[in-house]
Amino acid sequence: MAVKRVPLIAGNWKMNLDHLQAIATVQKLAWTLKDAKHEYGLGGAEVAVFPPFTDLRSVQTLISADKLEIVFGGQDVSEHDSGAYTGEISGAFLKSLDCSYVIIGHSERRQYHGETDELLGRKVAAALKHGLVPVLCVGETAEDLEQHGPSAVPVAQLKAALEGISGAPDLVVAYEPVWAIGSGQAATPEQAEQVAAKLRETLAELLGAEVADATRILYGGSVKSGNIAAFMREPNVDGALVGGASLDVAEFASIARFQKHVGT
Ligand code: 13P
Repeated sequence: MAVKRVPLIAGNWKMNLDHLQAIATVQKLAWTLKDAKHEYGLGGAEVAVFPPFTDLRSVQTLISADKLEIVFGGQDVSEHDSGAYTGEISGAFLKSLDCSYVIIGHSERRQYHGETDELLGRKVAAALKHGLVPVLCVGETAEDLEQHGPSAVPVAQLKAALEGISGAPDLVVAYEPVWAIGSGQAATPEQAEQVAAKLRETLAELLGAEVADATRILYGGSVKSGNIAAFMREPNVDGALVGGASLDVAEFASIARFQKHVGT
């Protein structure tokens, strides 16, 4: 039987907003979405932000003190638990700051930090071990798209990253075509649906139908308030991973607000 997947609208701030700006942004976001609760009854949708590591303690303090209905996570995690790994952040540290999620394998990490599918597999395992929900990013470049078609590379990335994973992990997959990130040129909802459906099929092969059914698949790449509706209408798209538009509180709130509306 098909489960109802809780929609997730997630803002990846990337390397933007210091801890003071983070506090102002989260406060404003919570305030802007406050009435949405009354208007739309929330519909069980989740709103998440992914600030830089240096903001996390401030965001945690604010969210817990004011009991805000916003969840948060880190933008990356180490494959290791602790030790001589300069510059790395352990999943245990993120968990102790009340992070719910962690982004793993964003295309910017793959591209600028040489992160391989094998490493990402170990990061997924580390996140799960520490009770964090990995938001595993997959997506093809424009070149990949031309050479291999729309879903081959994302599917291969998903298979590689989940190779050592078994059981029923709580996992989110974000399909982010590299050519759509920050370009203003989003995929069409049909393109997003086509790849999301393939990713779900792949999850079923790897982890079984139940996990595939329960796993949320997000679309990311130039999502805005003007195009979120069309993506959310697709049956295999369960939310969005939003970059640039998540830095503008009014814009991100209308993306999230729309989702709440859909969810009810
Ligand atoms: P944009 O929404 O700025 O295209 O970025 C998408 C992204 O990379 C989210 O992780």
